Amino acid sequence: MLSATHSVAFSGIDVIKVRIEIQITKGLPSFSIVGLGDKAIAESRERVRSALHAIGLSLPANHITVNLAPADVVKEGTHYDLPIALALLGAMGVLEPESFQNYIVMGELGLDGSIRPVSGILPASVAANQYEMGFICPSIQGSEALWSGNDTILAPENLLALINHFKGNQILPAPEPVKPESVQQTLLNMCDIKGQESAKRALEIAAVGGHNMLMVGPPGSGKSMLAARLPSIMPPLRAEEILEISKIHSVAGMLKDGQLVTQRPFRAPHYNASTPAMVGGGLKAKPGEISLAHRGVLFLDELPEFSRQTLEALRQPLETGEVSVARANSHITYPARFQLIAAMNPCRCGYLGVAGQECSRAPKCAEEYQSRISGPLLDRIDIQIEVPLISPWKLGQIEASENSETILKRVLRARSFQKDRFSNIPIHTNAEADGVILEQIAQLSQEARDVLIHAADLLHLSGRGFHRMIRVARTIADMECSEQILPHHMDEALSYRKTYRKGE
Ligand SMILES: Nc1ncnc2c1ncn2[C@@H]1O[C@H](COP(=O)(O)OP(=O)(O)O)[C@@H](O)[C@H]1O
Ligand SMILES: [Mg+2]
Repeated sequence: MLSATHSVAFSGIDVIKVRIEIQITKGLPSFSIVGLGDKAIAESRERVRSALHAIGLSLPANHITVNLAPADVVKEGTHYDLPIALALLGAMGVLEPESFQNYIVMGELGLDGSIRPVSGILPASVAANQYEMGFICPSIQGSEALWSGNDTILAPENLLALINHFKGNQILPAPEPVKPESVQQTLLNMCDIKGQESAKRALEIAAVGGHNMLMVGPPGSGKSMLAARLPSIMPPLRAEEILEISKIHSVAGMLKDGQLVTQRPFRAPHYNASTPAMVGGGLKAKPGEISLAHRGVLFLDELPEFSRQTLEALRQPLETGEVSVARANSHITYPARFQLIAAMNPCRCGYLGVAGQECSRAPKCAEEYQSRISGPLLDRIDIQIEVPLISPWKLGQIEASENSETILKRVLRARSFQKDRFSNIPIHTNAEADGVILEQIAQLSQEARDVLIHAADLLHLSGRGFHRMIRVARTIADMECSEQILPHHMDEALSYRKTYRKGE
């Protein structure tokens, strides 16, 4: 008898429907799975066999063939255990194959027949909704699946509970929805940072325009503190952004307790992180740090310490907002529109320019250190500032400063000023503007243009450097709700361009 059910395969966070067919025919006892499955799927046979054994069933002593269709899509992961077991129960005549045909099924089986959590539940249940199919998933992930709005979700604890449901012996209760996190994780607040007014101002500009930012300064000057507080002054996530980010985290197996990701991600990978960990892919295709930072902040501390290969791999995502990773015989794409905040010491010892603490090789060591970051990467970082060291006794004298709530209000005002502009062009922030679009939105006053041209001559600005300045000036003008970029906006933009690197 032929019995079939459905599951999904993932390509990035996109979902491909997979039909799982089982045929039991006369012949020597065997159990084979075909259809480009990976090692985990091959091992699935043992888990299925054992789970059936646990509920008192043994595999028929016949020729069992499992086919995962379409046969040309690579399938990875342990979530095919449950659909294979279900289809097998249909083929063995334990269940009516019609009863579970119209479901997307996901779950890993334990040897005792328990159903274990797997990654990718959220996008799979959203897809089930689109296919107008029901959804079967592990019990503890029922609440995650519920976010898709699908109203036919079964979340059994174990295989026996699922069989009883389909036999009508004991109907499974609907999964419980979880409340959105009652205590929102409190974000770090800008008021913790004393002084550093110009760095804070630069951070605010970065939040308004979505600009990437590089902070250069000696150890202990507060760079990490500043970066960690950026999410607190970024606009709250829109509903569709929450779903998009949560899907990525679901595929990475990082959604906790059925909660969606409701706050802007902040990811700070260590500089030892491998390139696959950073951009995604590797043996088991998973989203990397830059995709987990999608719509949030990617903080790279000690930028020059990252391997050159890793940094170069960031260039494409910085430009396109997505990353494409090579697989054995295909490419998969993950979203990766993140805001890059990088920090570095000016030199290896960290104290270039700090009186009395500079090492004997200064300034040569600084040149070497800074040259580890390639020009094309720096070109993608609109705002580059120096963060000076504040002496401890001065820190003690500084009164409390503005909190994140006040700054966020200003950021939101500037964002709403930008709203009309982005309604008819395909970008969402000034940082994304380039070429024709940048010219279209810039609206440089003649005086501001003169300021820029004069500076370009003086500072040997490259074409790209020129555009960076216009983008930042555009954001500064937005913060004053000014349609035109005026000279003082341009002056300020020019100040966010670190000067020690010659020739841009
Ligand atoms: N402007 C500041 N206001 C308050 N505390 C500061 C400031 N700058 C530095 N600190 C203190 O110094 C510590 C180190 O700051 P950090 O952000 O880690 O520096 P960096 O990343 O530049 O090495 C912080 O944890 C904080 O206690
Ligand atoms: Mg630090």
